[in-house]
Amino acid sequence: MKRYVILISGRGSNMESLLDAGLPGACAAVISNRADAAGLAFAASRGIVTHVIDHRGFASREDFDSALAAEVGRHAPDLILLAGFMRILTDGFVRRFEGRLLNIHPSLLPAFPGIKTHAQALAAGVRLHGCSVHFVTPALDGGPIIAQAAVPVQAGDDEASLGRRVLAEEHRLYPRVARWLLEGRLHLVAGRAQLVGEIAVGGALHVPQTE
Ligand code: GRF
Repeated sequence: MKRYVILISGRGSNMESLLDAGLPGACAAVISNRADAAGLAFAASRGIVTHVIDHRGFASREDFDSALAAEVGRHAPDLILLAGFMRILTDGFVRRFEGRLLNIHPSLLPAFPGIKTHAQALAAGVRLHGCSVHFVTPALDGGPIIAQAAVPVQAGDDEASLGRRVLAEEHRLYPRVARWLLEGRLHLVAGRAQLVGEIAVGGALHVPQTE
């Protein structure tokens, strides 16, 4: 059976959606860089092994990442899912797991990388916002896009209301993409996401909001 590891830093609602999705694989571990990440209790309640590797205990980003890579590698995962993992990873870490390292980001990339994406979208006045799942490469939020879900911005939206609707789409999109990879249908090929059995549009795959 395929194995996956989830990395979190906080609430863990995307982790919950992944664990509840009945993915074709076993969650080998949930790893957090913060001991107070709320998601750890949920993972433990599901009988999943949890680990905390506190980044504050390391002198450098490289030292933290090599400890993290050792722990992740110990589980020999086919897939590593960043789910609200709020650390920038070193090139060494990313390269070691390239092709099996995914992230979900709460914007329609390449628009609004970084943090406060809903505020950025409202400030820019875009009509469509959303979320993206991408392969992780050394460029922050810049790896090949696999799938996106769009969320219309409504009159009167604030960060919270827009964020809630985007999060609901994240919870649908991420398990779907994780399933593709675990089924062996999704690959990183020459810097592009390639999905067997789907039509690629402009090198990325648009996923409709409803199936
Ligand atoms: C999500 O919006 C995710 O896209 C972003 O951080 C947030 C994490 O939320 N990277 P949760 O911890 O999954 O609830």
